[in-house]
Amino acid sequence: MRINKYLAECGVASRRNCDKMIEDGLVKVNGKTCTLGQEVSDKDHVTVNGKSVVHVVKKEYYIMNKPKGYVCTVSDDKDRKTVMELLPKSAGRVFPVGRLDYDTEGLLILTNDGDLTLRLTHPRNEIPKTYMAKIEGGIDEKELDKVRAGVEIDGKKTKRCSAHIVETDKNYAKVVLTITEGRNRQVRKMFEAIGKNVAFLKRIKIGDLSLRGLDRGACRRLTDSEVEYLKFL
Ligand code: URA
Repeated sequence: MRINKYLAECGVASRRNCDKMIEDGLVKVNGKTCTLGQEVSDKDHVTVNGKSVVHVVKKEYYIMNKPKGYVCTVSDDKDRKTVMELLPKSAGRVFPVGRLDYDTEGLLILTNDGDLTLRLTHPRNEIPKTYMAKIEGGIDEKELDKVRAGVEIDGKKTKRCSAHIVETDKNYAKVVLTITEGRNRQVRKMFEAIGKNVAFLKRIKIGDLSLRGLDRGACRRLTDSEVEYLKFL
């Protein structure tokens, strides 16, 4: 990042005033007087008037209702749309916490807080994630019991999970299930393991945090209390 932006983010002064300080030779990078427009990173040691400045990046937290047809990466080698395009312009460098498949919709958190990302994604923490899955051709309780008890996917059995049929008609069943793992395409593969195809999949909750009030494709900042809730989930 350019030195004036870096200094402004450190709270030294406005970018313009930082430029003046640079012109006055008050700013050094790794012991050398810096020049206007010089690029710096957090690896550099920056001083103003001989005093070190500390670059603290403000933590940002967003909740998004991801639509299908978007990938959860910063850039895509196949040129598909990414969830980053749905963030407000004012958002800093935040990253998706875990992934939802290209075809999966629903609750996605994006942040630059690495500790929270690790907390929410580490298998040891068994964070409950709830999905609504539309099962082609329907499903009965006996079949769903297999999913609840755990099925083998990619050579390893899934953990016990809760699952309920919430709606049925002659063509499909809607199942709400809560899993505490986050394996690749886990929900789709769990139903595949019992010969069922998931026609539609949406994550509706992480813990008790839901998508309430958030339209498809919309995104908002998490409140402080929601962030605290996630940190202790
Ligand atoms: N399970 C899936 O199959 N897909 C997702 O995106 C998330 C969980």
